[in-house]
Amino acid sequence: MLPVHVEHYDVVGQSYSETRRAEPGIVGVLAIVLEVDRGGTFLDIACGSGNYAAALAQRGGCWTGVDISETMLRQARGHKSSVSWALGRAEELPIQDNALSGAIIVNALHFLDASRVFHEAYRALSAGRLIIFAPMPDLVRTWWLGRYFPDMIDSIARSLLSEADIHSRLLDAGFKIEETQIYFVAEGPVDLFIYSGKYAPEIYFKKKIRDNMSQFRNLCRPAELDAGLNLLRRDLESGAFWREHLPRERIPDYAFVIARK
Ligand SMILES: C[S@@+](CC[C@H](N)C(=O)[O-])C[C@H]1O[C@@H](n2cnc3c(N)ncnc32)[C@H](O)[C@@H]1O
Repeated sequence: MLPVHVEHYDVVGQSYSETRRAEPGIVGVLAIVLEVDRGGTFLDIACGSGNYAAALAQRGGCWTGVDISETMLRQARGHKSSVSWALGRAEELPIQDNALSGAIIVNALHFLDASRVFHEAYRALSAGRLIIFAPMPDLVRTWWLGRYFPDMIDSIARSLLSEADIHSRLLDAGFKIEETQIYFVAEGPVDLFIYSGKYAPEIYFKKKIRDNMSQFRNLCRPAELDAGLNLLRRDLESGAFWREHLPRERIPDYAFVIARK
């Protein structure tokens, strides 16, 4: 788990909506796998500013978003949507037993006590799927960010659960594992999470964007940040950046783990 506290998101959350939106490619997979067009009752666990719940609610189903940060939820309430927003901990979901037909955890598992959350999600689902969208340590170690911010990338990779760890905790909570789907970061991303700049390295020069990436805020020392940005600038100016990193473009960057009750 990352060393992050609710106060972090109560600070970050104030400008979160400016750089973080629902990424259409992620929404598409979640909507199809959850079959939201058939209706049902769904939960976005650690929903943050509510981008994914709000986008999915437009596709179908009755949605609730739960988050520990009031500042994030204040932004969530700004969406024109049918979603209900609830302040609460993912480890103690404010949801009755067997109430849900599906649930998602997007870019948040690394903040949570995964085992407790999976048990809670299992309790709250009647039948249906839990989908986790997350970076995984082996994928993170292929990110080109590692050339520029090696200590940060190492800290991120060490803080994440592997696919096998996620599977074993899901199984322990009672879930069946259906599959893992790989995800490639989009060109022209709109949800500016940590590796969304894979094809848009210029975003890392913008402090406002970095500030809404918890990893840059929490895990990148100022000296590494300066040195990394200088090297990135030099590589971009010389053209070495694209020569070096383009061949890696077909390596997946994130994954969806899909489990079923
Ligand atoms: C990186 S944000 C992701 C938000 C959202 N899922 C998205 O992708 O836009 C992580 C969120 O996890 C929330 N969070 C952290 N620990 C939590 C906990 N124990 N229970 C509920 N939410 C938590 C934070 O407040 C923050 O909103």
